Amino acid sequence: MIVLGIETSCDETGIALYDSHRGLLGDALFSQIDMHVDYGGVVPELASRDHIQRVLPLIDEVLGQAGIGKREIDAVAYTRGPGLVGALMVGACIGKALAWAWGIPSVGVHHMEGHLLAPMLEEAPMAFPFVALLVSGGHTQLVQVDGIGRYRLLGESVDDAAGEAFDKVAAMLGLDYPGGPAIARLAQQGQPGRFRFPRPMTDRPGLDFSFSGLKTFTLNTVAKCNAETDVQNPSHQTLSDQDKADIARAFEEAVVATLTIKCRRALQQTGMKQLVIAGGVSANLSLRTALEDMVAKEGAQLRYARPEFCTDNGAMIAYAGCQRLLAGQRDGPETTPVPRWPMEQLEPVA
Ligand code: KG4
Ligand code: ZN
Repeated sequence: MIVLGIETSCDETGIALYDSHRGLLGDALFSQIDMHVDYGGVVPELASRDHIQRVLPLIDEVLGQAGIGKREIDAVAYTRGPGLVGALMVGACIGKALAWAWGIPSVGVHHMEGHLLAPMLEEAPMAFPFVALLVSGGHTQLVQVDGIGRYRLLGESVDDAAGEAFDKVAAMLGLDYPGGPAIARLAQQGQPGRFRFPRPMTDRPGLDFSFSGLKTFTLNTVAKCNAETDVQNPSHQTLSDQDKADIARAFEEAVVATLTIKCRRALQQTGMKQLVIAGGVSANLSLRTALEDMVAKEGAQLRYARPEFCTDNGAMIAYAGCQRLLAGQRDGPETTPVPRWPMEQLEPVA
């Protein structure tokens, strides 16, 4: 079965073709980052308008990559939610319209299920069951995954998502949106040990997260460094580049340590020996290294997607949609986007 995947939940238009026999046939992405960067974050109306002009040319591009015609597509999968409602509507309307015009089925995919299954596109995919850490701009969740659509929430952030904290701390340091990659780059220049930031909620049992206190701690450190800079050089009111790098490093270390402690706890609590990480923050190299060390000590295994499939992309939607379509799921033209959509509400796939 060849599935066309359409992802338009936020600021990336992702289109892909996935074949259940041959694997990924084509994949193309347009990122709107340059359009939103001046605003320090995603402007929903601009995002929706831009998706409208990107989807069809990107479909032509992936058909070209795959060397197939549109009549060879067997089904369409589009992101149904969660995400920005206007942006979701663009992908859903185009996906449903194409499926109707071509006389083929369509299915609405949960964006986080897409992220969760993206590592399955790599070599030696992990078999169910496993523990998954979902870390994106909007979600930080530990989930027990017993199969597709069989998800048990083990813990989640009670406030900001990890990616959101990266983005907000980046803004404090004057770095561009999206903050995760910018912080990770700058952290490499940071001196180890100059600052030690707290590891929130690791000193008590449980698998929930909180990142807003860490954000405030970072803000206070920025203010303190500014004051120190003042005393030494009254004409220089801003942080030095070294201060920024040291803060970025301490912040990244705190997030990575916190996520690693909770992942270890989730493996121990469930008795599982398999961990999958997915979502934009799973592209972070320090996180991957820390988790590789942790799973080695636990005698467990770790899987993640290639970096471009950690952040939003069409391949994960084509793949997740394909699994649901193969199981017989279909969504009619009346299906509407779901901007807020808990993953536990999904139907299990047998
Ligand atoms: O999964 P994603 O592309 O979109 C959502 O579904 O939210 O995740 C985007 C988030 C942003 O907050 C971004 O700063 C973060 O992932 N991110 C990273 C890295 N790359 C992207 N955070 C830390 N390190 C990275 N290398
Ligand atoms: Zn995402």
